[in-house]
Amino acid sequence: MGEEQKSGIRVPKIALVGGGQIGGVIAQLCANRNLGDVVMFDVAPDMPQGKTLDIIEASRVDNFSGKVTGTNDYKDLEGADVIIVTAGVPRKPGMSRDDLLTINAGIVKTVGENIKQYAPNAIVIVVSNPLDAMVTLMQKATGFPASRVLGQAGVLDSSRFATFIAWELEVSVKDVNAPVLGGHGDTMVPLVRYANVNGVPVMEQFERKYKNAFKAKEVMDAIVARTRDAGGEVVRLLKTGSAFYSPASSAVQMAEAILRDEKRVLPVCAKLNGEYGVSGYYVGIMAVLGKNGVERIIEMQLNEEEQAMFTNSVNAVKKLVEDMQGLGL
Ligand code: APR
Repeated sequence: MGEEQKSGIRVPKIALVGGGQIGGVIAQLCANRNLGDVVMFDVAPDMPQGKTLDIIEASRVDNFSGKVTGTNDYKDLEGADVIIVTAGVPRKPGMSRDDLLTINAGIVKTVGENIKQYAPNAIVIVVSNPLDAMVTLMQKATGFPASRVLGQAGVLDSSRFATFIAWELEVSVKDVNAPVLGGHGDTMVPLVRYANVNGVPVMEQFERKYKNAFKAKEVMDAIVARTRDAGGEVVRLLKTGSAFYSPASSAVQMAEAILRDEKRVLPVCAKLNGEYGVSGYYVGIMAVLGKNGVERIIEMQLNEEEQAMFTNSVNAVKKLVEDMQGLGL
């Protein structure tokens, strides 16, 4: 577990496996929010040491006192409470997340085996894509209970959905709740019926704004499409990699909920056990996050159309997992 200070207060330890674009932002956010000591592992020689040195040299300016260190040795994962995995390659323009399967599966398997060896009590948050398959593989490689292996996707997809709704309604995004469930891919399920601004249904407000139900639906359809393609939109603009600020923030929110035992209700990729009629597959759902990881799955009531979209998304995840198994993983 994290380091014992002289005062007797235990400092949590957050390990990051992958110190690239997302890993770097995660390290800085964890330090700035005083979540605990951070160790960043990467296979690239010297890079995690350089990146963390750069981050810690701002500690005087940003007023944080936690340790932030870099390593190329898996042994330094020892004692980690939470491990965030971003190891792997990001997509380039024209690629889907699923195109990353073969290369990232090999990486995530190795990472999982090392986590099992060096940090057998950790809670693991996977960010590497294709997300749902990589979380599945991580649980297999670590052998950890499903409650201690989860994936980041829904927090970001829901934040993207909320952002576009807030722009359309010209309200603060802080007051918008817009859940997205399902797999982290083109089949994800933005739940329009549940989207609200402090309790007031979004569609009701669109209809009031446009005084035309058809137009309101058209606007929402465009927002749903943009949400589903939001990662791709960023990839096309960046040209050299994929989104990293927003995935980093989203993963840190999940880590914080776990480390501070907040019991936050967040959309995360977790293993279903009969919910929505699905068993044994990792997919995006609403869950309570606390010190034990995924403490409870909250099953939302879906109407026929929503359930059909969810089932379609689960089928896409199943196909990906089968493809992965076809690779012998
Ligand atoms: N162990 C640890 N790190 C590894 C390994 C490994 N076996 N193999 C590769 N890496 C590291 C790379 O050295 C690199 O620093 O993973 C890092 C990935 O960083 P980036 O290429 O910058 O990718 P990033 O944008 O951070 O995205 C990482 O998250 O959202 C997903 O699709 C994205 O799969 C991608 C992952």
